[in-house]
Amino acid sequence: MGYQDVYQSWKNDPEGFWMQAAQAIDWDKPPSKALFDKGGNLFEWFADARVNTCWNAVDRHVEAGRGEQTAIIYDSPITHTKREISFVELRNRVANLAGALRAKGVEKGDRVIIYMPMIPEALEAMLACARLGAIHSVVFGGFAANELAVRINDARPKAIIAASCGLEPGRVVHYKPLLDGAIDLADHKPDFTVIFQREQEVAKLIEGRDYNWHGFQYGVEPAECVPVEGNHPAYILYTSGTTGQPKGVIRHTAGQLVALNWTMKNIYNVDPGDVFWAASDVGWVVGHSYICYGPLIHGNTTIVFEGKPVGTPDAGTFWRVISEHNVKSFFTAPTAFRAVKREDPTGEYVGKYDLSCLKQVYLAGERADPDTIVWAQDQLKVPVVDHWWQTETGWAIAANPLGIEELPTKLGSPTVPMPGYEVTILDDAGHPVEPGTLGAIAVKLPLPPGTLPNLWNAEERFKKSYLNTFPGYYETGDAGMMDEDGYVYIMARTDDVINVAGHRLSTGAMEEVLASHPEVAECAVIGVTDQLKGQMPLGFLCLNAGVDRDHGDVVKEVVKLVREKIGPVAAFKLAVVVDRLPKTRSGKILRGTMVNIADCTPYKMPATIDDPAILDEIKEALQTIGYARD
Ligand code: COA
Ligand code: AMP
Repeated sequence: MGYQDVYQSWKNDPEGFWMQAAQAIDWDKPPSKALFDKGGNLFEWFADARVNTCWNAVDRHVEAGRGEQTAIIYDSPITHTKREISFVELRNRVANLAGALRAKGVEKGDRVIIYMPMIPEALEAMLACARLGAIHSVVFGGFAANELAVRINDARPKAIIAASCGLEPGRVVHYKPLLDGAIDLADHKPDFTVIFQREQEVAKLIEGRDYNWHGFQYGVEPAECVPVEGNHPAYILYTSGTTGQPKGVIRHTAGQLVALNWTMKNIYNVDPGDVFWAASDVGWVVGHSYICYGPLIHGNTTIVFEGKPVGTPDAGTFWRVISEHNVKSFFTAPTAFRAVKREDPTGEYVGKYDLSCLKQVYLAGERADPDTIVWAQDQLKVPVVDHWWQTETGWAIAANPLGIEELPTKLGSPTVPMPGYEVTILDDAGHPVEPGTLGAIAVKLPLPPGTLPNLWNAEERFKKSYLNTFPGYYETGDAGMMDEDGYVYIMARTDDVINVAGHRLSTGAMEEVLASHPEVAECAVIGVTDQLKGQMPLGFLCLNAGVDRDHGDVVKEVVKLVREKIGPVAAFKLAVVVDRLPKTRSGKILRGTMVNIADCTPYKMPATIDDPAILDEIKEALQTIGYARD
């Protein structure tokens, strides 16, 4: 069957399609049906089943005789370490860790925050939670204490599992002081923490609250897998929205198992036993779906890579890892390839490695610019697939499903909707538009298994953010179009989310931090185009009357403030002081127009602008920092 047949078979019988896919999962109690309509446009998949994620990702492969197969390859060019963990070792390690967590009182439904770098123990911590039916929430290491505190308050974890440190090139990230600071800041306090002591930095433990990862496992009974309901939350993953309060995306257990398992062959074209590598971080959705769960559920070997595309030690790192570990499918962000291309445009490093094992490459997380795709195709001589998805969906909305059929590539398009997604382009009034016409990208409800059923403790926000604008549809927050052949094109976000080096960030959250500076009266943050990172945040500051200090000092202070409050990952380094901000007559800041001015892209003078002269002032201010130079 080709793509059209598979898509049509889903459309003809969506529930039958997913029940069929569900047969690949080991159920404690199989679902009686696929879809559960909760009313009010809320849906759940396989809700009445009983199942355990860890069993499906680990134990069942051991039972099936694959225990000696490598489950995880850890490759860290930063620490010069390589290590392999087989499925049977992984089962034993995870059962012990789960046993130790249980002995300290962690049970099904309890939340556990995981704050760890790219080491196998991060996956083990996730799987140990899954084994117990505890709900994990992984927090990315590049976030600061304040962001961690916000997540602690919202998820109210019983325990936090962390490492003593993370390692960025040339810098040790001191996790433990960040963790201590976050717990101090948070209103909710966890009962205990578990600290994995890395040899690069041993953290000081607080007696009675902090336990050593190894020590606390001593003498405990290993835990068996606890079956949970199909609609039991497997995890909460916080992602940026319009405000500083991140959204807690929930993933249900059964839907995730069925959907991710389906994608491994149909989209990523790997068979059990093949090596699959997603060069991302467990703190992001890609890390959840395609470093941890997807490959392991499907019986693939996954790679935990602690390094960067360049500088660890050079622009050949990706190719070394692919060649050395026999990677068949490789997934990364376009920004990573842009970084490699910048250092090695002619592919000298590519030529140094035997890449015959590599059959396909996948890009996601941000727009894949045609230059980068063409460069990768020329260098690697395999299909390079741009695919589009979000933290909310957990897997691809649109892709080129190589395991079904390789469709022709159209540069600038992540190809076609996957089964489960009826992608529709809507105008402002919510009416479908003609092919080739720009609009809001929406997906007809219900969304498929594995996507978000709700937000943690925030059902109203869930409805407001995703369901209310276009009744009967999920609002993706992306704008774009579809062509006559059904190919999807993603053009821009319709909200305040920007994408910096493949990291999703909220300009609204940054504005909240800037506004907290005592001398800032008003501010705006926009995303300007950046050759390497796709976008970079840029702040405009209006200072209080009477502030006559050097403006450069205020800029330095707000840059420091964003790093302290949100974290280095915000990459907030650019800001200018202006007298006033351009607004509509009703007071809405014209951020889009400021982006056009900064990027030197044509724009129409907004009809509702209160004073057009402000745009010249904005342009002049931007020119002082190297932007808006046409
Ligand atoms: N822990 C602590 N700090 C982190 C971090 C982590 N896990 N990840 C990034 N940071 C820090 C970086 O050290 C950097 O700090 P600095 O301001 O002191 O230099 C800052 O956050 C910004 O990081 P980043 O935007 O990633 O830029 P970079 O210059 O370090 O690297 C790339 C640029 C392109 C090489 C890098 O962004 C990259 O590999 N991107 C791939 C993105 C990706 O995989 N996204 C996941 C979606 S698929
Ligand atoms: P995240 O939730 O971090 O995965 O970010 C999701 C957002 O990143 C999407 O809503 C898009 O705006 C953007 N994005 C992800 N993949 C693509 C892609 N292939 N092309 C264009 N934009 C993308």
